[in-house]
Amino acid sequence: MVSIAPSMLGADFGKMRDAAELVAPHSSYLHMDVMDGHFVPNLTMGVDLVKALNGIAPLDVHLMVTDPVHFIDDFYDAGADIISVHVEANNPREALVKINQKNIKSGIAFNPSTPKEKIIPYLDIADMILVMSVEPGYCGQSFHENAIDRVKYFKTNFPSKIIEVDGGVSTQNSAILSKNGADILVAGSAIFKSSDPLQTIAEMKKS
Ligand code: DX5
Ligand code: ZN
Repeated sequence: MVSIAPSMLGADFGKMRDAAELVAPHSSYLHMDVMDGHFVPNLTMGVDLVKALNGIAPLDVHLMVTDPVHFIDDFYDAGADIISVHVEANNPREALVKINQKNIKSGIAFNPSTPKEKIIPYLDIADMILVMSVEPGYCGQSFHENAIDRVKYFKTNFPSKIIEVDGGVSTQNSAILSKNGADILVAGSAIFKSSDPLQTIAEMKKS
């Protein structure tokens, strides 16, 4: 069965703990989107917010920052169970090595506009492939269909890797993504803008 990681960026920031506690029993991870206003135009959450949710569910930290290597220690200390860095950022290899030294899972993320071959040189040291299905920066964007073929390609050619898909994921595309090999589906708006978030999670898991 596919695992679900609600993207907390889609939750009401004033009620973050309540939102996390609601979805946690039905989810494998809480997905935490960290943006620095430089790698992407937006600023979102930092170390203290991640720390505040530590212990509610395992934490999947997605770093959309220019220099991820500077932040690995802090997010590890905040309780991250997975840390992903972008292939488009500075020194992804150094960051992945640092994550692996912490004995948590490491992920290499890449944007829809980045050729998929760019991440292959990092697969010797990354546990997870984070296939972005929107250009990073914001919740609520529409799903890039090329993610489906990318999931299939990496599941077929690198079957030992965990495949996570992030961006525009919903009950409309969860079935095709899991059928093609996705292991973890990240969803923000589809869950938190739903009138029944837990029902939405259940439907995505069934797919
Ligand atoms: C985009 C983030 C995603 C986003 C997902 O930059 O990495 O995790 O919050 O939100 P939805 O599911 O609404 O696209
Ligand atoms: Zn994300």
